Amino acid sequence: MAVTVSIIGAGSMGSSLLKGMLSTDALNAESVRATTHSRASADRLTQDLGIEANATEDSESANADAAAAADFVFLGVKPWAIRETAASFAEALAKEAVIVSMAAGVSLDTLAEAFPNNPIARIMPNTPSAIGKGVIAVSPDNTMSQEQTAALTRLLSGAGEVFTVPESAIGGMIGISGSGVAYFFLLAEKLIAAGQELGLDEDTARRMAVATAEGAGLLLAADPDPAKLRRAVAHPGGTTAAAVDSFEADGFEQSVVRAARAAADKAAAMERENS
Ligand SMILES: NC(=O)c1ccc[n+]([C@@H]2O[C@H](COP(=O)([O-])OP(=O)(O)OC[C@H]3O[C@@H](n4cnc5c(N)ncnc54)[C@H](OP(=O)(O)O)[C@@H]3O)[C@@H](O)[C@H]2O)c1
Repeated sequence: MAVTVSIIGAGSMGSSLLKGMLSTDALNAESVRATTHSRASADRLTQDLGIEANATEDSESANADAAAAADFVFLGVKPWAIRETAASFAEALAKEAVIVSMAAGVSLDTLAEAFPNNPIARIMPNTPSAIGKGVIAVSPDNTMSQEQTAALTRLLSGAGEVFTVPESAIGGMIGISGSGVAYFFLLAEKLIAAGQELGLDEDTARRMAVATAEGAGLLLAADPDPAKLRRAVAHPGGTTAAAVDSFEADGFEQSVVRAARAAADKAAAMERENS
């Protein structure tokens, strides 16, 4: 069954998710209404995605008008703007409309204060959602029906792999996946620098690092056992084993665990600040 969706604040992440959702057969462009602050952003959305988009700078009721008939109302404004934006449309919502917040560091309890009469899902996407290769954690509150959770999962599957998790798992998702994409980018950056230290020119080092990341990612997706894949490259006494031994001697494992924990701890601190 086709659903209607509104995206309140269709910026970078909101429009990435929307693009993915439109690639499924669960949503048509005619069933979407989006809002932004500026007219220029709204025009861009209409041009790029063929959807109706309106700007709050043109009309104070833009959010309420967009949210009124929607089955799912996605909130894509910045975390600090959630409460004020919620006040602009909460009363216009249909009773069964599901609020879907993508805001980092805003808990279900805080969202329930802003939307006391509607079911709420908190989601956490990562940036590859923009190319349909995201990881998206979904935490429904206890008033969302199974049908609503299933319909939301179907919509979001166009943007990547969807995991329905309790809210307590969002920190872990941020630690390894929401922020985790940047760890892979950091490794690529450092490999490019290392390649130059080893005498490669920058362009060659960049292309080699990118192709290596792509090949490793595709191999891993086909055979999701990274330790096995690593052992297949790192023969005892060989070059890869020398590199892996060097990583281990530098405390690589502890460093990765500490980094993931730092991201999860930061997410928890943001939730406390926003509560
Ligand atoms: N970017 C990420 O990697 C990422 C990852 C996970 C979660 N998130 C979450 O996604 C949310 C959005 O982040 P973003 O990076 O996509 O920010 P963004 O690109 O700045 O998008 C925010 C959007 O909200 C619009 N807006 C501002 N005030 C509004 C209002 N009163 N009513 C309606 N729309 C309004 C802005 O309009 P204009 O375009 O006219 O300014 C813009 O389109 C945040 O809560 C963030 O925590 C982001």
